[in-house]
Amino acid sequence: MVKICCIGAGYVGGPTMAVIAFKCPAIEVVVVDISVARIAAWNSDQLPIYEPGLEDIVTQCRGKNLFFSTEVEKHVSEADIIFVSVNTPTKTRGLGAGKAADLTYWESAARMIADVSKNDKIVVEKSTVPVKTAEAIEKILTHNSNGIKYQILSNPEFLAEGTAIQDLFNPDRVLIGGRETPGGQKAIQALKEVYAHWVPEDRIICTNLWSAELSKLAANAFLAQRISSVNAMSALCEATGADVTQVSHAVGKDTRVGSKFLNASVGFGGSCFQKDILSLVYICECNGLKEVANYWKQVIQVNDYQKNRFVNRVVSSMFNTVSGKKIAILGFAFKKDTGDTRETPAIDVCKGLLGDNANLSIYDPQVTEDQIRKDLSMRKFDWDNPIHLQPMSPTVMKQLNVVWDAYAATKDAHGLCLLTEWDEFKTLDFKKIYDSMQKPAFVFDGRNIIDEQKLREIGFIVYSIGKPLDGWFKDMPAVA
Ligand code: NAD
Ligand code: UDX
Repeated sequence: MVKICCIGAGYVGGPTMAVIAFKCPAIEVVVVDISVARIAAWNSDQLPIYEPGLEDIVTQCRGKNLFFSTEVEKHVSEADIIFVSVNTPTKTRGLGAGKAADLTYWESAARMIADVSKNDKIVVEKSTVPVKTAEAIEKILTHNSNGIKYQILSNPEFLAEGTAIQDLFNPDRVLIGGRETPGGQKAIQALKEVYAHWVPEDRIICTNLWSAELSKLAANAFLAQRISSVNAMSALCEATGADVTQVSHAVGKDTRVGSKFLNASVGFGGSCFQKDILSLVYICECNGLKEVANYWKQVIQVNDYQKNRFVNRVVSSMFNTVSGKKIAILGFAFKKDTGDTRETPAIDVCKGLLGDNANLSIYDPQVTEDQIRKDLSMRKFDWDNPIHLQPMSPTVMKQLNVVWDAYAATKDAHGLCLLTEWDEFKTLDFKKIYDSMQKPAFVFDGRNIIDEQKLREIGFIVYSIGKPLDGWFKDMPAVA
């Protein structure tokens, strides 16, 4: 029986290994983590992450060929293939702070592998890492090898949260990069055989190590760039009376462009896009490619602009002040069908409104009050370093209310900001909401999911990203 061990039981390690175990009953898969709480949750009925379809797969395989454990060294030493799926956040201090990927967790995992291994191993980079990381890992492993042979493969993960299981079941492609030596090719073949249990061969792409590493950063940069492109257009649409939905539909119909990932929004969030583009920017700068770095930096700058523009729109349309006004925030997760809040645009929007002294009433179906308070107390990039939490000032504490129902959030509110596209928000009783709100009642749709016309007929003043502006906004100061 082939034994796989995955270091890191997070959003990638957990679902990816669950699907490998599910599709390959003859392979034993152990997911290990240093976090005792996370492993306990994986072994309980309350999984540590919310992901549609995940619970079903975990319950079917757990205890048969899928195990979750904190005995990291034991399982690493017994495995033939070791996936490393630890976090690689943006560095918050030192060289490259605010841009470079922090490889501390990766390096410590590599050193531990070198310390405990007793037989030859294939080590798979599952985490998203800077190009050439495999070279550094190889050095760490071979300098501490005691004669053991390691093959390093790059096998970046392309799943998106909220659709992780369907993405893993039916991936557009699986990418495996390895050394162009006989040993490297043999290792590629071994990993390919694992995926070949359910992924058609023509969707398994094999490349050299550096292409695989770079392709992951490039893919995220291209995807995020589409969103910033459409978001930049949304500002121009608002200024000209064009409708961004119509524009993106027309543009996306060109088969060379394609229709996916062209939804204008309050801004992209999530743990990957910003982090990986910043990492790409840093790599370009380190290679003396200033123009290339500046090109990609713009994707982040437009995203920040979009989030600021949204806050400015809310404040300016409500007579240039939200001080003391209750504003309902519907949705806090960075997208629907996940409880993940890492880099969610809701953090920037809420901080912007709190800065203008608004009273916020927040509702998200999957995010806990504790998480929201933590997120709003954190400095940028610090979600991986909870020790940097700033205590929330008593004033901000009072300005913030987390509730468990959209109707409670909107009662007596002056405005409603829709920040996550949860399906349940599409079917809310907006007449009931309107009746319970202060007048004039405003809706700011950061995801373009509501029927604006219907809401205007109810009496709301409606702002949707990149849509022709309600007459109300035309009389208000321009928003840049
Ligand atoms: P995560 O923070 O959810 O999980 C990482 C886990 O690794 C944590 O539970 C942590 O305790 C554990 N860990 C850290 N150091 C360890 C060590 N030395 N030994 C054992 N466990 C250790 O992160 P994630 O979202 O799963 O992301 C992991 C990697 O995958 C990152 O590089 C990320 O960029 C990449 N990625 C993420 C996604 C996504 O949607 N989240 C998608 C594709 C790729
Ligand atoms: C992304 C990549 O899609 C995935 O391939 C990679 O492995 C990890 O990073 P994820 O961040 O989980 O996945 O979700 P994604 O669906 O890409 O959404 C990212 C952000 O962009 C979300 O905030 C989402 O709401 C936003 N978005 C997405 C838009 O604003 N408009 C769109 O058209 C699509």
